Amino acid sequence: MNRLPVVVLISGTGSNLAALLASARGEDCPYDVVAVIADRDAAGLEHARAAAIPTQIVSLSAHPDRAAWDQALTAAVAAYNPHLVVLAGFMKLVGPPLLDAFGGRIINTHPALLPSFPGAHGVRDALAHGVKVTGCSVIEVDAGVDTGKILAQTAVEILDEDTEETLHERIKAVEQPLLVEVVRRLTAAR
Ligand code: GRF
Repeated sequence: MNRLPVVVLISGTGSNLAALLASARGEDCPYDVVAVIADRDAAGLEHARAAAIPTQIVSLSAHPDRAAWDQALTAAVAAYNPHLVVLAGFMKLVGPPLLDAFGGRIINTHPALLPSFPGAHGVRDALAHGVKVTGCSVIEVDAGVDTGKILAQTAVEILDEDTEETLHERIKAVEQPLLVEVVRRLTAAR
């Protein structure tokens, strides 16, 4: 089977990346993770190194300004000619160059039920608001902050004793299979 190339962008521990890599080991998988790019020396890069997948760090501080970083990030991604770009815990907003190059083919996973609680602290904000149900969303990335088309969601109940950490762990447990399902769906449809 001809697998479609996927580039994954991360900033953190890479549990979502690990789930994508585990799924890609299946014979029936319609995609290959061809590169993992981070904006910092993210712990999650280890998952890619262990799988002998090329990694690259494109950090904002190594560039004169945001526009130069946007261009460098876009060039790094484009070098792999991906069918799909997956932001899996990538903690930076992507700029116009990446959107122009891959518009409609960039997806993001967010740890809340959008349009509620967008931004960098989706778990903390849901907890602080006192909602009883939150979850995760996989969306198409557009120029806004977590405003793109919602592709899939899973709900997670909030328990009275939850902390940001315990809640985020339960969200991650459902976020990983949801992201895998969406990436498989988007790379299987031709
Ligand atoms: C995920 O919950 C993602 O939605 C959020 O940060 C977390 C990243 O986790 N933005 P990991 O790096 O994939 O483990």
